[in-house]
Amino acid sequence: MSKILVTGGTGYIGSHTVVELHNAGYTPVIIDNLSNSSLKILDQIEKIIGVKPEFHQFDLCEETLVTNFVKNNPDITGIIHFAASKAVGESVEKPLKYYRNNFFSLINILQAYNDKKINFVFSSSCTVYGEPDQLPVTESAPVKKATSPYGNTKQIAEEILEESANAYGNYNVIALRYFNPVGAHESALIGELPLGVPQNLLPFITQTAIGKREKLTVFGGDYDTPDGSCIRDYIHVVDLAKAHVAAIKLLEKGNPNGNYDVFNVGTGNGYSVLEAITAFENESGRKLNYTIGPRRGGDIIKVWGDVTKSTQQLGWTAQLGIDQMMSSAWAWEKYLQEQPIA
Ligand code: WQD
Repeated sequence: MSKILVTGGTGYIGSHTVVELHNAGYTPVIIDNLSNSSLKILDQIEKIIGVKPEFHQFDLCEETLVTNFVKNNPDITGIIHFAASKAVGESVEKPLKYYRNNFFSLINILQAYNDKKINFVFSSSCTVYGEPDQLPVTESAPVKKATSPYGNTKQIAEEILEESANAYGNYNVIALRYFNPVGAHESALIGELPLGVPQNLLPFITQTAIGKREKLTVFGGDYDTPDGSCIRDYIHVVDLAKAHVAAIKLLEKGNPNGNYDVFNVGTGNGYSVLEAITAFENESGRKLNYTIGPRRGGDIIKVWGDVTKSTQQLGWTAQLGIDQMMSSAWAWEKYLQEQPIA
């Protein structure tokens, strides 16, 4: 069973991808510094797949630790790189933390693998498109000036990967541009674990519904959209995890598009914030306490993906709908109330 390194593998998307890699017959190996996750996630993953994944705790910004790991683990054939700081708002307040963490970790891994063939899947984001000129947005849409240091680190990381793949020839790279990951594993044993006040919509919805937050503020109700609230392409985290397995398989088979490629990973459907709230209320049976407040700086008004390339060339299509996204997110929140993990 080929070994796949999953950096950030105890995180939200990382942990779901570890499960799907195991289900697909791979052996996932996790590196995580636990700066934004909990060691208990390993026990939760074990409850799902029956084995505790191999785990190494260290900071990928420490070059010698990375090179020693690679030297001592020669049988890793592929890498899925999630480890990065990812809060848009925090990146505006602390840009140096984001540039240091997101670039040092990426460059250390690439340098450590510079003398061998390696398949590399990168966690990118639709944020690279900014406010698209055309919707649905395709992979050939222009990358626009990032609206946050977080988004800028994703854009520059894609450039680092493309230029390295073209220059050295040993890196086979796929960048997956995620839309908005939401939901949780059907077991409700893993899910999004925001430490502190949630930045993203879904955890704020579920924490409000369960009574941890007093109310949700909808950031803006006067946008140029049918109901005035922003539109996003929400994608179930399990579908997203499966896209990473499909990317590893395509790299192992040989990607006819070459040694650097990009895929949109979304559903192709846009839902407004208010529509997402309604979908949650229908699935949970809970009336959500929310108000319409001022706009949040930096928000894109509407973005959803054209996922034709992923369907035709990656051999992957999202299977789960907004109802399963909401019901699984709610089941996870209720689980956390009984068994706090953080
Ligand atoms: C979604 C919508 C908000 C909270 C960012 C990054 C993306 C990815 C996910 C890391 C927006 C509205 C939110 C709230 C609200 N990053 N909202 N009240 O900003 O689309 O994407 O996070 O994984 O790369 O760009 O996600 O969930 O923060 O916001 O009204 O309390 O919900 O205004 O319209 P976003 P989000």
